[in-house]
Amino acid sequence: MSTPLPSADRTDRWWEELPAGRNRLRGRAHLHTDAPALNLDGTWEFRYGTRADGSDLGESAEIAVPGLWQLQGYGAPQYTNVIYPIPRDVPHVPDENPTGHYSRTLTVPEEWTEQLAGGARILLRFQGVDSAAKVWIDGTEIGVTAGSRLTQEFDVTEALTAEAPHGEHRLDVRVVQWSVNTYVEDQDMWWASGIFRSVDLLLRPVGGIHDLVTDADFDPATGEGALRVTALDADGAELAATVEVPDLGHSAATGARALSVGEVRPWSAEDPHLYDATVRTATETVTLRLGFRRVEVDGEIFRVNGERIVFRGVNRHEADPVVGRTQHLQNQDLDVALMKQHNLNAVRTSHYPPHQRFLDVCDEAGLYVICEGDFETHGFHADSTWGEDGTGAAEGPAQNPLFEESLVERSERFVLRDRHHASIVMWSIGNEAASGPVAEAMVARVRETDPTRPVIYEQDYAAEYVDVFSLMYSSIDESTQIGERSLSPEYQDKLTRMLRGFALDVPEGHFADPPALHKPFLWIEYAHAMGNGAGSLEEYMALTEKYPALHGGFIWEWIDHGLETTDAEGNRIYGYGGDFGERLHDGNFVADGLVLPDRTPSPALLDAKHHYSPVGLEVSPGTARIVNRYAFSDLSHLRAEVSVDAQASWQELELPTIAPGESVEVALPAHEGATTTVRLLTREAQGPVPAGHTIVAADHVDPARLRAALTPSAAAAAAPEQGEDGSWSLGPARFDDLGRLVGLGDLAVEGAGVDLYRAPVDNERARTRAPLEARWKRIGLDHARRRLVEISAEGSALLVRSRLGLDGSALGADVTERWSGDAEGVDVEVTVTPSAFWPEDLPLPRIGWTFALPSAPDEVEYEGFGPHESYPDTGGGTTFARWSSSLAEFQVPYVFPQENGNRAGVVRAALRGAAGAALALEAPDGLGLAVRPWSTAELDARAHDGALRPDGRTWVTLSAALQGVGSAACGPEPLPQYVLSAREESFRFRLAPTAG
Ligand code: GAL
Repeated sequence: MSTPLPSADRTDRWWEELPAGRNRLRGRAHLHTDAPALNLDGTWEFRYGTRADGSDLGESAEIAVPGLWQLQGYGAPQYTNVIYPIPRDVPHVPDENPTGHYSRTLTVPEEWTEQLAGGARILLRFQGVDSAAKVWIDGTEIGVTAGSRLTQEFDVTEALTAEAPHGEHRLDVRVVQWSVNTYVEDQDMWWASGIFRSVDLLLRPVGGIHDLVTDADFDPATGEGALRVTALDADGAELAATVEVPDLGHSAATGARALSVGEVRPWSAEDPHLYDATVRTATETVTLRLGFRRVEVDGEIFRVNGERIVFRGVNRHEADPVVGRTQHLQNQDLDVALMKQHNLNAVRTSHYPPHQRFLDVCDEAGLYVICEGDFETHGFHADSTWGEDGTGAAEGPAQNPLFEESLVERSERFVLRDRHHASIVMWSIGNEAASGPVAEAMVARVRETDPTRPVIYEQDYAAEYVDVFSLMYSSIDESTQIGERSLSPEYQDKLTRMLRGFALDVPEGHFADPPALHKPFLWIEYAHAMGNGAGSLEEYMALTEKYPALHGGFIWEWIDHGLETTDAEGNRIYGYGGDFGERLHDGNFVADGLVLPDRTPSPALLDAKHHYSPVGLEVSPGTARIVNRYAFSDLSHLRAEVSVDAQASWQELELPTIAPGESVEVALPAHEGATTTVRLLTREAQGPVPAGHTIVAADHVDPARLRAALTPSAAAAAAPEQGEDGSWSLGPARFDDLGRLVGLGDLAVEGAGVDLYRAPVDNERARTRAPLEARWKRIGLDHARRRLVEISAEGSALLVRSRLGLDGSALGADVTERWSGDAEGVDVEVTVTPSAFWPEDLPLPRIGWTFALPSAPDEVEYEGFGPHESYPDTGGGTTFARWSSSLAEFQVPYVFPQENGNRAGVVRAALRGAAGAALALEAPDGLGLAVRPWSTAELDARAHDGALRPDGRTWVTLSAALQGVGSAACGPEPLPQYVLSAREESFRFRLAPTAG
C-alpha cells in the first residue's frame, strides 16, 4: 500500500470521548437504490495489538470482513450476562484493550468520474463495527464510529478525490474492543469485536434521494390506503421526486401531504401484502416495498388495522455457531422461515437493530417486529438490585447527563435507518438500561423521529412515558393481576422495589393505579427457553384470551449462542461461557433458545408452535372445537383431516366458514377406536410455509379403550421358583437373591429398579430461582441406596419389598413390586411410598423405574405421545400414535446435557437392535419413556453434549410421574399443578423378550 500505517498518537483518546463518534453523518434510511455502490467486503489486511493507540500492533496478516476477530484466531470470545468484563470506570477503559487494525486499498470506479465532476458525493458506510473505530483514508482522519450495531456513514469525497481520484487509496480502520460504547452495550451475549457487518462506498448523485419518510396508512373503516412519501436531500430539505405504485395506478409528486391511493390490500403478519413502489428523481431511483397498515394504541388495546393483535413472539439475537454475530445472509431468511412455519407472528430484535436483510424478510413473510435500539447498561443497576453497592443506577447512563447527547442520537439513528419497514409496529429504545431522564429523552426523540409508531421500554415499569406497558418473566399470577387491572399490595411493593432499584425516588402508592394499567400490556420476555423448557406456555397464552389488555409476548429467546469449538479431550462441542479461558463468565446461560446453535428446532419450538397456533383445536368424543384466533383471516386457506386409527390413515373433514374470532363445533365420525386425531393443514404455500404444512394437531384419547386394545397374553401363568443360591425366576424373568431383575430370556438386565431421580434441567441448576439440583444432590437422590426388606412367593406372584434410602438421612421411600408372569413375559405392579415426613417444599425429580439392556437398539418404536418430548408442562403438539425413532432421534442434544427425550403416555414400545437386544414393553395406563445410549449419571456428569459417551448399553427409563420443567432459570418455577410432591405412586408394566 502506498501510504504507511497511521502513526500512533498517544494523546488522542478517541475511544473514550463523550459524545461518542466524530464526523458521522446523521442517520438515514437504508434504501434499495440504483445509485452506484462499491462493496468493500472481502479479505483485508489485519494487525492485532493490545493498545488502542496502535503502539503495539503486530505483524500484518489477513482477515475476513465482515467478521469478528475472536472467531478468526485473535483473542477469545467472552460471555457475560450482566456484569461488565472491564472495571466500571466511565468513560474510561483499561490500557490493555484488544485492538484490530484493518487496512485495505480501494480505487474509486472510473464510471463514477462524470458524476463526481458534477458534484456527487462519496460516502463510506459501516453497518456494524464493535465497539468503536477510527477511520483514516491515506493517513488522514475521517472520523470515529459510535454504536456497534448502528449504521455509520462518513462523507469521504474530499479524501478520495482531492488528489489522484482514480489512483489507489488506503483505508485504515482501527477497531478497539473496549470503548465508551461498551458501557451502553452490555447485552447478554458474547463480547466479540471487529467489522462484523458490511462496508460499502456509496456514490450519492446530485439531486439524489438521501433519505425518505414513508407512511403507508390503511383505514380499516373504508378499506382505503393513503400514502405520504417525503424525499429529503442531504441537508434534510425536501426534494421534488415522483412516487409510483404501479399496482395501484398511483403516480404522484412526493410531499408532506398524504394522498389517497384508493382501496388497498392491507399488510399484516397474516397477509403480508407488499406493493412495489419507486421513488424517482432525475438522478436516482429508490425501490420500496410498501405495506399499508395502521398501528394504534387504543386505550388498553393494541391494534393493527383496527383489530386487537396478540403477539406470539420471540426475542432474537444474531447468533451463528461459527461466525457469531456476523450474519450469514441466509440466516436471516432461515430464521424467518422457521418462525413462520412454527406459528410465530412476532419478533423483538433483542437487543439491537438487526441486519438489514432481516427486516426485509419480516416485511415479506409477515412478522410484527419490535425493533430495538442498541442500548443496555445492566451492569450498572444489577449491583443495586443485588444489594452490592446501590450506587450503580444513579451513575448509569439513563440518569447521567454525560451520556444524553450520544444516547438520544443513538435512538434517532436506528429509527431513521428502519422506519420505512411495514413489519415494524413498535420501537423499543433498548433493554435493561434502568430508567431516568436520559431514557425519557430517548423515548421522546424516537417519538419525534417517527410519530406513527408506539414506543415501548420495559424498564419504565409504571409506563409513565411509554405507550405500551411491558415486563419480563411475570408469573401467571402477576399477569392475571395485570389483566384484572388491579395489583395486590405485595405486587405493588415488588414493582416499587424494582423501580427504586434504579435509585429513583418512588413514592408509596405509585403502583396503586399507575398509567401502566391503562395501557396495553405484553411480556417483552417470558418463558425462558434454556435447555429443556420453558413450561406453561399454554397457561400464558390462555391469559391472552381471557384479558383483552394482555397482548401476548416474546419468548426468551430464539437461538442458543453456542460457538463451535473443541474441548480438552478433543470432543467437538458447542462452547459457552468459560470454554474460551474467560476468567469472568456466566456459563451456559447464553444457550437458552428455541433452536439449537445450528438452528435445529428444539422441542420447545414445537411446543410453542402448538400454543401459538392461530387456530385453537380441542378434540373430544364425537366433536372438535375450532377457534379462529386470527385477527383478519377466515380459515379458508386451511383444510382439516381426521384420523380414527392413531394416524394410520386420514380422512378429509369439512370445515364451515369460520370468521376471525369465531369458534365452531365440528362433528367427528363415530368409531370404536381409542384415539381421534384432527389436524389442520395449509392448502397452498404461503411465503416460507409450504402447502400441506400442519398448523395444529390435537387428539382425544380414551384410556379405557386403549387398555382394552392391549391383548393380554394367552400363555398360562408361571409360578416363581427359587434357586439354590437364593435367586428367583418367574417365566422369562430372572431375579438375583436381592430381588433385582437381572435377566429376561437371553437378555441380561442391569441397574433395574425404582428410580426417583432424573438429570436436573437448566431450570433446576444453581443460580436459578429454584436451585433444586443442589438440594437433590445434597440428600443423594442421585445415589439412592436400596435395601431388600423382603422377598417371597405369594401364590403365582413374587413379592419384593425394598427401601430406597438417602445417605445421612432418614428420608427415603418404601417400594413394593409384585411380579407375575407367564412363559412369554413378566408383569409388575410397583408402589412407591415416600417417607411421610418428606419436606413439603422439596419436589421429587421423578417416580419411575430404570433398567439397562446390554446393547443399543437402532430403533425404538412406541405407541404414545410423540413425535417429540413431553414433560408435565411442555409437549404441546404431541399426539398419540405409533411412532418410530432412531436412538439418536430419541435424544435432544441440549448444549448442556440434562434430562430430555421423555415420551409421554407410552402404552407399548419395542426396542429392536442389531445386536439381538429385543424387548417388548407394555404399560396399560401409559408411562413416560426415555431410551438412551448412556446412563442418567453420565447425562448428569457431562458439561457438553459433545462429551457424552455411550456405554454400549441401552438405558430405559419409565416414568410414572415427573417434576415439571418450569422457567426458573430466569422466570417462574413450575406451576403448583406441575410440581411432583413426594406422594405415593403406583404403576404397572410388562416386559417381554422378543426375537431380535
Ligand atoms: C433478561 C434479559 C435478556 C437475557 C435474559 C436471560 O433479563 O433482558 O437479555 O439476559 O434475561 O437469558
